[in-house]
Amino acid sequence: MSNHQPNHNNFTSKIGLILATAGSAVGLGNIWRFPVLAGQNGGAAFLILYIFCVILIGLPLMVGEFIIGRHAQSNTAYAFSKLTNHKIFKNIGRFGVFTGWFILCYYIVVSAWALDYLVDAILGRFGKLSEAGNAQVYADYFHDFITNPYLPVIYTIIFILLSHLIIIRGVKKGIEKFAKFLMPLLFIIMLILVVFSIFTEGAQEGLTFLFKPDFTKITFSTILTAMGQAFFSMSIAMGCLCTFASYFTKEANLINTAFKVGVIDTLVAVMSGIIIFPAVFSAHFAVNSGASLAFIALPNVFQQAFSHLPTVSYIISILFYFLLVLATLTSVISLHEVPTAFLAEHYKISRTKATSIVTATVCFFGTICSLSNGVLSDITISGKNIFDLFDYVSGQIFLPIGGLLIAVFVGWSMDKDIIRNQLTNFGTIPGKGATTIIYLLKYVIPVITLLIFLSGLNIIKL
Ligand code: PFF
Repeated sequence: MSNHQPNHNNFTSKIGLILATAGSAVGLGNIWRFPVLAGQNGGAAFLILYIFCVILIGLPLMVGEFIIGRHAQSNTAYAFSKLTNHKIFKNIGRFGVFTGWFILCYYIVVSAWALDYLVDAILGRFGKLSEAGNAQVYADYFHDFITNPYLPVIYTIIFILLSHLIIIRGVKKGIEKFAKFLMPLLFIIMLILVVFSIFTEGAQEGLTFLFKPDFTKITFSTILTAMGQAFFSMSIAMGCLCTFASYFTKEANLINTAFKVGVIDTLVAVMSGIIIFPAVFSAHFAVNSGASLAFIALPNVFQQAFSHLPTVSYIISILFYFLLVLATLTSVISLHEVPTAFLAEHYKISRTKATSIVTATVCFFGTICSLSNGVLSDITISGKNIFDLFDYVSGQIFLPIGGLLIAVFVGWSMDKDIIRNQLTNFGTIPGKGATTIIYLLKYVIPVITLLIFLSGLNIIKL
């Protein structure tokens, strides 16, 4: 076993590294989770809060991970251990790698649902369901699917194999090349859907909901929800940003890159809101219909919003689920890369072997998570099935702890020269905003992440 990093690759272009990192950030979090949370927490007011969280917490932590990754030029686990001898800080990296792998095991299950729904959309199944004339059929359809012992598992395995085939090609030919192709495609599809959405009947109402704030809807728990969402959506504390930064060129401007990735990520979340809310309002659905929004409400909503134009409903459904699959695929690739880079570099094994080990373990645990919605649903811990448990433990425990440790490490313990050199590219660029970022990492973020953590565990009530 060695800590050295053979075959460490780089992204070849500036646009490639921005798109690959944005590809990691843009995923289910933006298209599936953000509209759900905005719907449940007052729309525009939530959006404004969310943007504050991105700026005050997300961006500084992203820059912090970039500093560590690019300085160390290695996978996340080794990056931290190279920088410190402190027992806890040394292990933040390993913790991040584990978190990335852990999240992948359940993230892949929802990715598989998106893939199945894409196939259903292509086969015109949602149009057929609409003939029944009531909304319950969509709920039954979803329930039957996720509890089926074979189908979701098969799609889970197909999805992870898809990501496997891309990852195995390496950083340049795999991740960067696919991100350069998939991300612009994703934007084009989103723009088409936005245009469709603006012309639906309920557009006015939907857009008002998303953009006209009602601050009476905001409570402390809304703030915590917005922060948690910023963590998830920006891929923070999952080892991914650090791993990707190790592939950055030495000319990349870290603050500027984080800013661009943050803007793209937020823009995609807002665009999903623009796509989803007008359709939801026009079909007279409840905007707060929860996590089932993308898989129960939306297939129905797309049929109803364009009920007089079935071909438009058909195309929109396909485009939407294709979009979801693309966004999810780029995220799955990056989650897959984190443990793969670690195994390949730490145990000095080939990339193919490392990728295969990750694929095999994720297939196994992904299958268990998937089955926990059906045949394994009797296995519960504190009332949660395995799937929900993975979601809860990663979101409420691993991410805030990881964020807290990263902020404290960069803010208080890391060598200041390394930070300065990374942010100014060894004095060749001004590194504007560095002082504010360090201040936030040092004082503001540790307090806030601790609060998220304690309230998530119900240790404190806010
Ligand atoms: N940020 C992704 C999303 O919003 O769906 C989730 C994610 C992807 C987290 C990749 C971490 C990561 F490495």
